[in-house]
Amino acid sequence: MNTFTDLRHAERITTVKPLPAWAYLSPELLELEYERVILPSWQFVCHQNEVPAAGDYVTLDLWRDSVIVMRGSDGRLRAFQNACRHRGARLLDGNGHCARHITCPYHAWSYEFEGQLARVPAERTFQSLDKLSLGLREFELETFLGLVFVRIAGGGPSLNSVLGELAGELAPFGIEDMVPAPAARPVEQWNCNWKVALDNYLDNYHVPYGHPGLHRLMDNDLACTMNPHGVSWSRSTIRERASPNWSERAYQGLARRAFSGLPQSIRSTWMFCFMPVNIGFDVYPDGMNIFQVLPTGPATTEVRLPLYHRRDASRETRGVRYLARRINAQINHEDKLLCERVQGGLAGHGYAAGPLSDWEMPVKDMHDRLRSACPVLDCLQRPAEGSLRSINERMLADQAASARDRSAEKSAITRSGEQDSIGSPML
Ligand SMILES: [Fe+2]
Repeated sequence: MNTFTDLRHAERITTVKPLPAWAYLSPELLELEYERVILPSWQFVCHQNEVPAAGDYVTLDLWRDSVIVMRGSDGRLRAFQNACRHRGARLLDGNGHCARHITCPYHAWSYEFEGQLARVPAERTFQSLDKLSLGLREFELETFLGLVFVRIAGGGPSLNSVLGELAGELAPFGIEDMVPAPAARPVEQWNCNWKVALDNYLDNYHVPYGHPGLHRLMDNDLACTMNPHGVSWSRSTIRERASPNWSERAYQGLARRAFSGLPQSIRSTWMFCFMPVNIGFDVYPDGMNIFQVLPTGPATTEVRLPLYHRRDASRETRGVRYLARRINAQINHEDKLLCERVQGGLAGHGYAAGPLSDWEMPVKDMHDRLRSACPVLDCLQRPAEGSLRSINERMLADQAASARDRSAEKSAITRSGEQDSIGSPML
């Protein structure tokens, strides 16, 4: 068992109660979560192999923000705010290649691939234009196994320190060298709050009943490993016993032959991994897809599911990929329907959330993290309209004051411990 499975950490989260039902319905809360949870978290944009040449770009649209990831002439990847410094027009859409500059479609201000403002039409009509201070706003960018992430509101731990040992776990899958599957940048719209989709991704408890096909196909490890940053992963193994379902049985048979050249440790392994706050990685012997949950409203969510695979493609491999996509499409469809049913139930008058199983441990952990960023989630009843932000501010101030008290108490104990050779078990 991985050393990151820290029992003390598991004990800490057993005390966490599920979020109240109103937390999945409130437009005011969503504003707060967007600022305090989504913007300060690492967001997946693309694979580095989607932007191999200078001028190649991919954009990511969040609820209120848009980001460009661009390969510079120096070979470096950078992330920019997707807004012209003149009047704010979105500069680029989707993905593609800029021939010489990034040019705004409004007044044709143009920028270097490295972000500096290059040209302003009729420049003399501006009084004292300081072009040096008008480069594109840059965001933090980091890659993990070739996957490109950005963070809009910075200051937290680095991507690679958050993901930690997961790099070693995923190394045999060769993610760094993968390429996008043809025409595979699907985006789905789910009619549920973003946290319903998130809870569902984090919950292994529903797999045996909610996903009968997946359960026939795989021996699912419903427990998971979790590191102190809330990054969790579990492994499923393709069952030896043939599934009665045609596509599952065909997958089992073909996978054995198609993956025989891959490292033994991953030939029959699917890994389901998660990084707070909203990114899943579903990794298969020869490919992977991202599961990124982005709020678009209190009861609507965009789920991004970009798919990548190894470059090689024998006939058998293409067959097994086709079957995996069929199986995954079914799993996603089941999840979407389940999430929309949950959203319907949560909206019922007086509904109160029930307890969580140990197989929902990552859900507990996520709720704990959300509460710490938005303590207003501790309120069992929905705050009166217009008061949510001020209640949250007050609770944050209380939280900071008690943290100061605890730290003062701890340093007092430490000082007394220095004088006392026996010390305290707390130390
Ligand atoms: Fe599911």
